[in-house]
Amino acid sequence: MYLILLPLHSLVRWLVLLSLVFAIYRAYRGWLGKKAYTEFDERTRMITATIAHIQLVIGLWLYVISPIVSYFLHNFKEGVHERVIRFFGMEHITMMLIAITLITIGSAKAKRKTTDTERFKIMAIWFTISLLIIFFSIPWSFSPLTSRPLFRPF
Ligand code: HEM
Repeated sequence: MYLILLPLHSLVRWLVLLSLVFAIYRAYRGWLGKKAYTEFDERTRMITATIAHIQLVIGLWLYVISPIVSYFLHNFKEGVHERVIRFFGMEHITMMLIAITLITIGSAKAKRKTTDTERFKIMAIWFTISLLIIFFSIPWSFSPLTSRPLFRPF
């Protein structure tokens, strides 16, 4: 299962990023251009939050079965001093949980707002903060700290 979930989690990362970037583009366009909040924007908001939640479920599952996390949890004293072990055992999960919580709150707040401009504004702000957190918490292949492939084959 680990060998399926890891490439899947890696792949879904691109969907998370693409959906967030598109939702943020729509949100700023609507907010600054004073556009009407359409059914399309509503669907964009919902799909973006859903993709983030799917990644959350895969991530949680991965957390439970990952040998890296298992090493971290069973050898905390040593693991916490090893960069890659600490990253997946502690830092990645913490930052991603914060980011997905912000997407969920932003999405729910936007839904409750009564004016179109307010909806777009809430989405723009909350989703932008989430995107920044997610971007900086991904183990990019070009990262000098914790590096993982951009595309992991199944
Ligand atoms: C938007 C949210 C997230 C994104 C974009 C993301 C992205 C990634 C990426 C790109 C990797 C490297 C995959 C590879 O080695 O090919 C990874 C690994 C991992 N992620 Fe996430 N992640 C997210 C959320 C989470 C969450 C919420 C959890 C835990 C609850 C989690 C747990 C893990 C674990 C345990 C690994 C490493 C597993 C291993 O190498 O054994 N992720 N993540």
